Amino acid sequence: MLAAGAATLRAVLLLLGVTAAVSAQPASTSERVEALLRRMTLEEKVGEMTQLTIGALSRPGAPAVLDSALLERALRRDHVGSLLNVWETALTPAQWSDLVATVQRVADRTRLGIPILYGLDAVHGANYIRGATLFPQNIALAATWDPPLVREVNAITARELRAVGVPWNFSPVLDLGRQPLWSRFFETFGEDVHLATTLGVQAVEGLQGVRRAALPLRVAATAKHFLGYSMPLSGRDRTTAWIPERQLREYFLPSFRAAIAAGVRAVMVNSGDVNGIPVHSSRELLTDLLREELGFTGVVVSDWQDIERLVSPHHVAATQREAVRLAIRAGIDMSMTPHDTRFAELLLALVHAGEVSEVRIDQSVRRILTLKMDLGLFEDARPDTAAQRRIGVAAAQAVSRQAAEEAVTVLENRGVLPLSPQARVLITGPGATSLPAQFGGWSYTWQGRDSSAYPPGLVTFARALAEEHGPGRVNLVESIRLDGSGSVGEAVRAAAGADVVIVALAEPPSTEKPGDIETLDLPAAERDLALALERTGKPVIVTLFQNRPRILRPIVDSARAIVLAYQTGPYGGTALARVLTGAVNPSGRLPFTYPRASGAIEHYDHAFSAEAFQYDTTGGYRPEWDFGHGLSYTRFTYDTVTLARTRLRLHDTLVVHVRLRNAGTRGGDEVIQLYVRQLVASITPPVKRLRAYRRLSLAAGAVAEAEMRVPVRELGFVGRDNREGVEPGEFEVLVGGRRLPFRVE
Ligand code: GLC
Repeated sequence: MLAAGAATLRAVLLLLGVTAAVSAQPASTSERVEALLRRMTLEEKVGEMTQLTIGALSRPGAPAVLDSALLERALRRDHVGSLLNVWETALTPAQWSDLVATVQRVADRTRLGIPILYGLDAVHGANYIRGATLFPQNIALAATWDPPLVREVNAITARELRAVGVPWNFSPVLDLGRQPLWSRFFETFGEDVHLATTLGVQAVEGLQGVRRAALPLRVAATAKHFLGYSMPLSGRDRTTAWIPERQLREYFLPSFRAAIAAGVRAVMVNSGDVNGIPVHSSRELLTDLLREELGFTGVVVSDWQDIERLVSPHHVAATQREAVRLAIRAGIDMSMTPHDTRFAELLLALVHAGEVSEVRIDQSVRRILTLKMDLGLFEDARPDTAAQRRIGVAAAQAVSRQAAEEAVTVLENRGVLPLSPQARVLITGPGATSLPAQFGGWSYTWQGRDSSAYPPGLVTFARALAEEHGPGRVNLVESIRLDGSGSVGEAVRAAAGADVVIVALAEPPSTEKPGDIETLDLPAAERDLALALERTGKPVIVTLFQNRPRILRPIVDSARAIVLAYQTGPYGGTALARVLTGAVNPSGRLPFTYPRASGAIEHYDHAFSAEAFQYDTTGGYRPEWDFGHGLSYTRFTYDTVTLARTRLRLHDTLVVHVRLRNAGTRGGDEVIQLYVRQLVASITPPVKRLRAYRRLSLAAGAVAEAEMRVPVRELGFVGRDNREGVEPGEFEVLVGGRRLPFRVE
């Protein structure tokens, strides 16, 4: 009996012990959220769903500083739960520390002490922190075809944001860059679904870390702008996009789906309308698709003032009250109002009137509180002043420089690059000395245009060239400036004393509506500058800092080389100079199709009907340079490309072996691009789709074996029924100029 008694006693002790242990375990996040939610008043809940720009908390006309009375009122009377942005220009880490610490101190004194969630745009590094590491814009990062690099860029960005107490980044843009007129083309990872999706996931994981537990040391990423924002029919930002559901699912959805699968914590909504439906009012997109089909459980934040804008300019709501009701019904959790608290007042009235249930309010507040808790803000929302020493460190700068060097893309080289070491070089044009053109939008100010906002000591292209090529051999002559003013006479005269002329073209930085244009044609002043110098008979090298592919056709044939440096940030000038001198072997590959005319915007994954056929008068699909194009100073050969199997079933994996040789005389990087073509399908098939890629570094003479694997399930498309699937049939793999058939049964 004793034995039995002892066993019973042990069981009881064990149960007590376990119970004690369980009661000693910390409550789970969801338990903490529910406990807090139960204590919140309705006013506190709708305040939690309200986000104000920091500019709303300073007196009009007063210097850009927090007005303590306005701050107290917003947080303690109106219960505002989130802030965003800067006033006008980047702040120093110390200014950020003061700002965030002040905000969180006031938040601590609210009834429930819920910390503020501070959101910021850090789209190519922490661009609103002075001294932070800035990187090439996303379109340039895409030109590197280097996923680990994109991850590291975003991990550094997260570290530097968190050090100043900002735990939420409104990045990455996952919109597809298929409308080059669009002012935010540079913020995308290019036109291709596979490239943009794979790099977008790297950006999310770089920012957030992979495990949920990493979040207190990282930042929340934001997949934006859901959905279909990047394809305005007019090319102008926030104007109507005509995207049929099949194309929406085929091209614009995958990058968001993959980011959600990777655990992205926030989604920002497209400000525009898709097929006449403003996305901020679209329950179909924000709830049926985003929540129910894609399973997104994070926070959906509106874009700037976009609930209000359902009244004007969208005209789908007659009053602000109706706009709020539509947006909440659609599925928005937080309103970037961002100037006042009318959203909260109207939402409160809607709940009191029974037009919005408190259950619906609780859904959003739950998501917001969960994000704040997972970010560790309830434990400590203050800046990590010790970590601020690591802002802008040399190791981070080296990553930015590497990214710039990997991005620069040589589009043409007719025997003039690398420069002869003795060549006397004339350099002229706006890109020679303009830092704003080198950085692009979102650089220290929203538009990136204010040169005075840039830190001292940055290296322009002209200065970098003088350092790399030798100051005595580089002659900088001013001609056309970034605003198109200036003249070409002096540069034309100076060409007589040069062996080579570099015409450094550049597009003024911009983003969103201020960046709207009506043609991709090169501005006349820049075109004429290039033509004038080409007419001197001297070899002309055209270099480009630009947001989007401007039409170069008039100056292409007479140029001896054309080099695209996108907007590559602090090391863009240095990278460009080092490519021209040969210090760097270029490896950038176009992440978009470069059009030859404004009216010929087509993509590499076009239908066969875009190719020239009967009665065609334009020659069909003829881009200036194709997606994936980029020249090297060495020569890569694809000695063998073989398929492990040529008959595959749905659950199989296509396995391609590539033997790549560096047959040239210097080391270099190649990007193996694996495309797949389906010969016949129920939807007109694209001539090819990128399905895998691999960046490899090879020494001169070296050979590398690469095995590339593509699950057959990834060879599908969205069919006539708007559903994704793989259709059996005949396919081809296209790699390195080879075409190998295979069959899916
Ligand atoms: C802007 C942009 C969005 C940005 C937000 C906050 O209007 O559309 O990308 O994150 O406002 O600055």
